Amino acid sequence: TWTAANIADALIADVREQVGDDLALCALSGGVDSAVAGALVQRAIGDRLTCVFVDHGLLRAGEREQVQNDFVAATGARLVTVDAEETFLGHLAGVSDPEEKRKIIGREFIRSFEDVVSEALGDRAAEGKTIDYLVQGTLYPDVVESGGGSGTANIKSHHNVGGLPEDLEFKLVEPLRLLFKDEVRAVGRELGLPEEMVARQPFPGPGLAIRIVGEVTKDRLDLLRQADLIAREELTSAGLDGQIWQCPVVLLADVRSVGVQGDGRTYGHPIVLRPVSSEDAMTADWTRVPYEVLEIISTRITNEVPDVNRVVLDVTSKPPGTIEWE
Ligand code: XMP
Repeated sequence: TWTAANIADALIADVREQVGDDLALCALSGGVDSAVAGALVQRAIGDRLTCVFVDHGLLRAGEREQVQNDFVAATGARLVTVDAEETFLGHLAGVSDPEEKRKIIGREFIRSFEDVVSEALGDRAAEGKTIDYLVQGTLYPDVVESGGGSGTANIKSHHNVGGLPEDLEFKLVEPLRLLFKDEVRAVGRELGLPEEMVARQPFPGPGLAIRIVGEVTKDRLDLLRQADLIAREELTSAGLDGQIWQCPVVLLADVRSVGVQGDGRTYGHPIVLRPVSSEDAMTADWTRVPYEVLEIISTRITNEVPDVNRVVLDVTSKPPGTIEWE
């Protein structure tokens, strides 16, 4: 019978058999899939797994803390956090093109990851050991979409962690490859992962960089983080998390409009709310968030976030719009 406990046990046994006495790395994105995959492999091989979390400075408020504190507390996993904000923002300076942003982030992600490999090996490097396995949170829909094959084929089409080290020649461990999202969440709860992590909405590997239309700067990221946190808080407290697949909050950094606040004229940026309902992100409908909730979010964002004087709602389904703006 299908219970989360049975599935977890079976998956842990499979991983133990696959990896044997070897070493594995798992890149955590802060998302559900990599967290559950990492937690399963940790149960299977303990300290022979090293989890890697690259803080590229493009994360939402509280995400780093959630991985560093809550994930580690729940799993006991060995974690290496890479402080790469300066590096990433340096390379992103002056770049507005969405594909260019993605390329830079993917490339820098691989570099950060490579730096960590030797650190993760530690003393074992002296014994001539290498890291053989890379843990991936690939789900069944991803497998189907990319033609069903196991191996490295998934990496390119689903750059879930912002681009993965193709040239490092790891063998893949994909413990979730037969599961759907809701099953992954059930297994995550079974493994004791925190609810905020298990229930988290999807968030793209390139992070907030693809939610700033225009150049990515630290100031703009800070501003977007504030707006995003307000939207998340209010949608959650209105009890809407179950209806909303995800709600990108987008900063139109290249756009300004005239406003009035207090007794002064403002010339600030718009924030776009993009709440969508979806089964699998392939298609989506815009979520009919109640007006009262939109009103609270709009008032709070324009009052609390500097340089933002307008909040707009995206009422486009997918297709023709994508979920993200870039
Ligand atoms: P779109 O915008 O294509 O998004 O409708 C579909 C789903 O994919 C996520 N997304 C990404 N995830 N790297 C990721 O890991 C990316 O470059 C990327 N772009 C979009 C998006 O958040 C949505 O869930």
